[in-house]
Amino acid sequence: MSIMIAPSLLSADYGRLAEAAKLAEEAGADLIHVDVMDGHFVPTLSFGPQLVASLKKEVKIPIWAHLMVEKPETFIPQFYEAGAGWLSIHLEASQHIHRHIFQMKELGLKAGIALNPGTPIHLMIDILKDLDFVLLMTVDPGWGGQTLIESTRNKIRLLRNWIQGQRLKIPIAIDGGVTLDNMEILIDDGVTIFVAGATIFGHEDPASVIKKMKEVVASRQKP
Ligand code: DX5
Ligand code: ZN
Repeated sequence: MSIMIAPSLLSADYGRLAEAAKLAEEAGADLIHVDVMDGHFVPTLSFGPQLVASLKKEVKIPIWAHLMVEKPETFIPQFYEAGAGWLSIHLEASQHIHRHIFQMKELGLKAGIALNPGTPIHLMIDILKDLDFVLLMTVDPGWGGQTLIESTRNKIRLLRNWIQGQRLKIPIAIDGGVTLDNMEILIDDGVTIFVAGATIFGHEDPASVIKKMKEVVASRQKP
């Protein structure tokens, strides 16, 4: 499975988001990660579907909305109409995760479940085979620039073993605290999609960081 890089605009300059997305695409990013926060599921506020609609006109790579909101199902149609290609909703926020995953899939979206660091992955064992990807939070959601919680690495490895054991091919994405220094061990743990905000957009030359991340991936994928 090829490993993907998904820059998170949460740490970009909010006056220049389209520019940041285009720069990321040109540097080789595979997806643009847009964090949607409602001030309830997480204490902070961030972006909505209008941003996705604007970015959609600027980049060709898929836009991935990470919904950190209560009642995520009420927003699925809005993000679909705005042009998101990937959508992840939190297991902790959905009372009917099966219905909501299929609500996304029936629209043709890549549908994923996001899981907070403290939520056991066993809670999604029955829905796993229906997912297009899993998003494991490696920090508590709400802010960029936090340090990866080391205990989440056990979950990555456990999930990878489940996926392999069932002969499934489901990408494992992680979100939070990804750096150029920890990517290698995380690839070994089983990560196939890296979301990264502060590491990329906190740097004076974000494109160079994306290129370096691609180099780490390439060196790790060699036989
Ligand atoms: C956090 C967000 C992340 C955030 C990651 O709640 O979901 O996508 O941008 O930030 P970094 O990579 O800075 O830890
Ligand atoms: Zn995110």
